[in-house]
Amino acid sequence: MASRKRTSGAPKATGLRQGLATYGDAGFSLFLRKAFIKAAGYTDDALDRPIVGITNTFSDFNPCHGNVPDLIESVKRGILLQGALPMVFPTISIHESFSHPTSMYLRNLMAMDTEEMVRAQPMDSVVMIGGCDKTLPAQLMAAASADRPTIVLPVGPMLVGHYKGEVLGACTDCRRLWGQYRAGTFSEQDIQQVSERLAPTKGTCMVMGTASTMGCMVETLGMGLPSSGSIPATHSDRLRIAEATGKRAAEMARTGGPKPSEIMTKAAFRNALTVMQAIGGSTNALVHLTAVARRLGIRIDLEEFDTIGRNVPVLVDLKPSGDHYMEHFHWAGGNSRLMKEIRGSLDETAMTVSGRTLKQVIDKAEMVPNQTVIRTPKNPIKPTGGMAVLRGNLAPRGAVIKHSAASPALLTHSGRAVVFDSLEDLALRGDDPKLDVKADDILVLRNAGAKGAPGMPEAGSFPIPMKLARAGVKDMIRISDARMSGTAFGTIVLHVSPEAANGGPLALVKNGDRITLDVPKRKLELLVSAAELTKRRKAWKAPTPPAGSHRGYASLYFDTVLEADEGVDFDFLGSAGAKR
Ligand code: FES
Repeated sequence: MASRKRTSGAPKATGLRQGLATYGDAGFSLFLRKAFIKAAGYTDDALDRPIVGITNTFSDFNPCHGNVPDLIESVKRGILLQGALPMVFPTISIHESFSHPTSMYLRNLMAMDTEEMVRAQPMDSVVMIGGCDKTLPAQLMAAASADRPTIVLPVGPMLVGHYKGEVLGACTDCRRLWGQYRAGTFSEQDIQQVSERLAPTKGTCMVMGTASTMGCMVETLGMGLPSSGSIPATHSDRLRIAEATGKRAAEMARTGGPKPSEIMTKAAFRNALTVMQAIGGSTNALVHLTAVARRLGIRIDLEEFDTIGRNVPVLVDLKPSGDHYMEHFHWAGGNSRLMKEIRGSLDETAMTVSGRTLKQVIDKAEMVPNQTVIRTPKNPIKPTGGMAVLRGNLAPRGAVIKHSAASPALLTHSGRAVVFDSLEDLALRGDDPKLDVKADDILVLRNAGAKGAPGMPEAGSFPIPMKLARAGVKDMIRISDARMSGTAFGTIVLHVSPEAANGGPLALVKNGDRITLDVPKRKLELLVSAAELTKRRKAWKAPTPPAGSHRGYASLYFDTVLEADEGVDFDFLGSAGAKR
């Protein structure tokens, strides 16, 4: 296929003919391109086909993406079956545990890399294969900005582990068992053996953490095929959906659509926010969806998100809010079945990359008899959604709490602030036996936001001080401008905006101040007079930027990164035409 016909104007270049390198002579540019690619053994017949790009995010540093080579082969098979030409290309790959300082710090770099390589190279459509926490958000951001027909293919969740008759899940149980080890109730040998069982297969964390939440978001937004978010990474169905994804991407390469901007509409984002509440999803996904939407000029309204949460119950019985794991969610019918339970709250006219409306996807949901993982609205896990948005003088631009994973007794509580100025300060003093802290205090961690840490680490669920943990204290209110892993649990207030490093009120809290958290009223208040806060603000000095932040990517990051309520994207990466 040389080029698709346009109804007006010059035909749009497609396949190998699009996006030529600039040599001042288009004919020469195409000649040179063909001459080089023929070194790889391609024929003119192959090079005349529509091209489907496939991102390769395999990396030895990213075990969650260990099945990517197999998925690529299956996607290729689907593309070839449809008579198109697959072209695999590498992009950045990010794993949570192998990214210093944090994976979030690198998310925007991956988004920029993916966007620019999709834009720069000749492809009529693209399959983006990702999964580990920040990779699907980065790819959705890239897809939104490049706006080339795209299907996202998650790598899928890993299977559960087992230890001494107990089912283990990464990483809810990573934190729980590490907490027991710190408290001295779990031995050195136990923790060593558990480290070999927590992540027993390739694939992403199998609790309802960020990766699983984003898999559900990919499906709900309509950017991936039905079930692609939940099929286990190691199952043959995962390879079959990869083949189906390749086939559909080849069709999209031929027809030139739909484009991400036609799929990820305001209605699609509202649907995604609704599902996020119903699955008890990761708080991180809210930041990521905000960033993706911003790329398309769509604003995620925190108040609307909170209102959705008041009306939509948590229906999915998965850790950390419930008891099961992603493989059980999948075999119970997965995201389509979940959407069926809340279809009255969804805009079913939204289109998906499958070519079907959300209604058609939901109509085909598998109704598994007697399953107990996806509940009905009459028998929910929690009567309201998993997350709430808090406001008050401590968080003028909002903060988030995953109350479905919090201790009910702490959701309305006033206490004395015990402040840690930074992660370093927390590491230094948090376990000091002389630390003045009691079980009913409120722990505050600041300078752990997008700019302050930097990279907004998943430090919001920081450990209970050792002496209290050893005394059996399992949960305390913790407030910070950090994020937390979607796999964590506890009464954790996150994403306090503006962050302390930008002079937000969190920077002004002192040890001994009283703080009130009232989740039913959505309040987060620092009980200090306005006059005193003004005085403290005058004395406040912005923290010194870390060494090395004057050059390279770090410089770009510090100069342009936005707050949590704006998605922690770079200010210049908004929708086309948006001002910085
Ligand atoms: Fe990759 Fe959890 S570490 S998804």
